[in-house]
Amino acid sequence: MKIRFTMDKITRDGNPVLRAQAQEVPFPLSEEHQQLAKDMMTYLEVSQDEEQNEKYDLRPGVGLAAPQVGESLQMTAILIPSADPAEDSDTPYFKGVIFNPVIVSETVGRAALETGEGCLSVDEDVPGFVPRSKKITVRYQDENGKTQSKTLRNYPAIVFQHEIDHLHGKLYYDHINQQDPWGIDDSTKYV
Ligand code: CO
Repeated sequence: MKIRFTMDKITRDGNPVLRAQAQEVPFPLSEEHQQLAKDMMTYLEVSQDEEQNEKYDLRPGVGLAAPQVGESLQMTAILIPSADPAEDSDTPYFKGVIFNPVIVSETVGRAALETGEGCLSVDEDVPGFVPRSKKITVRYQDENGKTQSKTLRNYPAIVFQHEIDHLHGKLYYDHINQQDPWGIDDSTKYV
């Protein structure tokens, strides 16, 4: 597999592209944007494949947004492995590049990953809970420009919110309560 994005190509915290509002992606997709989408997904595939990754030493990721490869565009690759790890299945829970996504509804109830979040663009671990909506409905365009709508809960909902944040100049630690990083209120569930 040919790989375009290696760790040295990933933009890191401090790079202004990560704090910018990304531009909408026009359709039909240009060849350049089609290739970008493919290359972003390849990063995720290789990063999750232990054998292939030995060669490239990528930090494993379930999402990679265009600003993380220096492109201020509203597109992000998402590859969430099968929900059931016991299941001997290669079918991921979600695999795709989403364009111009908008969260059209979200629950008041919150969820946070028990171990906090991480990000390919943030080298230093910033500890603390990242409370997010427990359930969201997201509307986006697929690579053909077709509008899709998807309702997500818990872990996948958190992944989508993390990635969509990247398109609006936000990083996960912006959501951490600096006074009480591991404090959690009654309406927040661990995932
Ligand atoms: Co990230």
